Amino acid sequence: MPNAKLILNDKEYEFPVFAGSENEVAIDISKLRAQTGAIAYDPGYGNVGACSSSITYIDGDAGILRYRGYPIEQLATQATFVEVCYLLIYGHLPTADELEKFNARLNKHSLVHEDMKKLFEGYPPSAHPMAIMSAMVISLSAYHPDLLDPEIIDTNIMRLLAKFKTLAAFTYKKSVGQPYVYPRSDLSYTADFLHMMFSVPTHDYDIPDVVVKALDLLLILHADHEQNCSTSTVRMVGSSQANVFASVAAGVNALWGPLHGGANQEVIMMLEDIHKDGGDVQKYVNMAKDKNSHFRLFGFGHRVYKNFDPRAKILGKAADDVLNALHVTDPLLDIARGLADAALSDPYFIERKLYPNVDFYSGIIYRALGIPTSMFTVMFGLGRLPGWISQWKEMHNDPQTRINRPRQIYTGETARDYVPVDQR
Ligand code: SDX
Repeated sequence: MPNAKLILNDKEYEFPVFAGSENEVAIDISKLRAQTGAIAYDPGYGNVGACSSSITYIDGDAGILRYRGYPIEQLATQATFVEVCYLLIYGHLPTADELEKFNARLNKHSLVHEDMKKLFEGYPPSAHPMAIMSAMVISLSAYHPDLLDPEIIDTNIMRLLAKFKTLAAFTYKKSVGQPYVYPRSDLSYTADFLHMMFSVPTHDYDIPDVVVKALDLLLILHADHEQNCSTSTVRMVGSSQANVFASVAAGVNALWGPLHGGANQEVIMMLEDIHKDGGDVQKYVNMAKDKNSHFRLFGFGHRVYKNFDPRAKILGKAADDVLNALHVTDPLLDIARGLADAALSDPYFIERKLYPNVDFYSGIIYRALGIPTSMFTVMFGLGRLPGWISQWKEMHNDPQTRINRPRQIYTGETARDYVPVDQR
């Protein structure tokens, strides 16, 4: 492809141009500062590619999302979450034998060191589960110290994938004051998580298939999403050669933010407020348009999707299917639909291409499955875990990887001399 040309201070510079496998075009400015003395400036990185990746492809205008080339619509209806974990981490759909071995490894590593239960004791029951999960993920590095041994990295990846769901369930049990329930190797990954969440010593949770399928769907839809905030954080931290536990723990923290994974909890709280306030959705649409209100419609808008979020489309339908199958009625679903209809027909949202995103309907389904609102973002993290891991692994194994170190434009004081305190 012909070079891109830049004219700066009447001098012309050329920079290479290349395209990815989906013909996305990039200008390689890795020599920009060395050649021109200037940097590119893009707070929020909306126009900057931090890496090349072969894991996930998103076309925000066409509403396309593919994991390793497979459309999300096919994976959502035909695959299991464990198959998607394998696909993201190893790059291909597992054969029956590979899948059996993968499940056996997940079962083998699903227990956590008994001493980790003591870590939970230090938290008040009211602790936000994301705070606990962040601490538990980084604490895994203390129990599995061979952090960067190439022979051990794949085992540590399996440990993280297997133990995160156990720690997530323990976090829930801690919040409700119930005893921890240990994993069972006769259950699938998703069924085992539900078992650990909802079984009690007096009786095992009778796990309805419809609940397992609904949760598998939610986890698949959250599994990866190219260079979103938390995944970019995992890559940022991992670029210093920090281990996978440290890098993913950083991703957990980034996900917690209400503009990112924390939005699913905010959506339900918003819908509950609207419900308590009489269900006047137009009032809240108007508030969202009023900059002085500082109110945003959580679950709406996306940096990349400017047409529709394919995940929201799938979840919008699944919400009806799951609630009907469970004979659950939830007034918040009607409010969500009314809110979406009102916003999608409003010029403010249409002009800004704001559509429901993955967080808009997910909480309605989590609620129907019996998962408390405080655990919603942990559920997002459980789904995103294979994505974080696969992106960390791709970055870690790439010989081109350099430590991430963005530049800045300084706008502070220019040079000045120190003044002793008795002269200020
Ligand atoms: C996720 O990146 C990913 O892939 C993320 C994710 C993943 O899978 O990893 O998809 C998961 O994080 C989904 C997003 C969850 N967050 C929310 O639902 C929070 C509400 N949404 C917004 O805060 C916002 O839309 C973002 C954060 C999602 C995107 O922010 P951008 O791209 O920085 O857009 P912006 O804030 O610059 O908004 C552009 C305009 C602004 O208005 P103007 O200044 O042009 O007048 O749109 C407005 C914003 O005020 N706007 C909204 C709005 N979102 C954007 N106005 C009202 N309600 C909203 N939700």
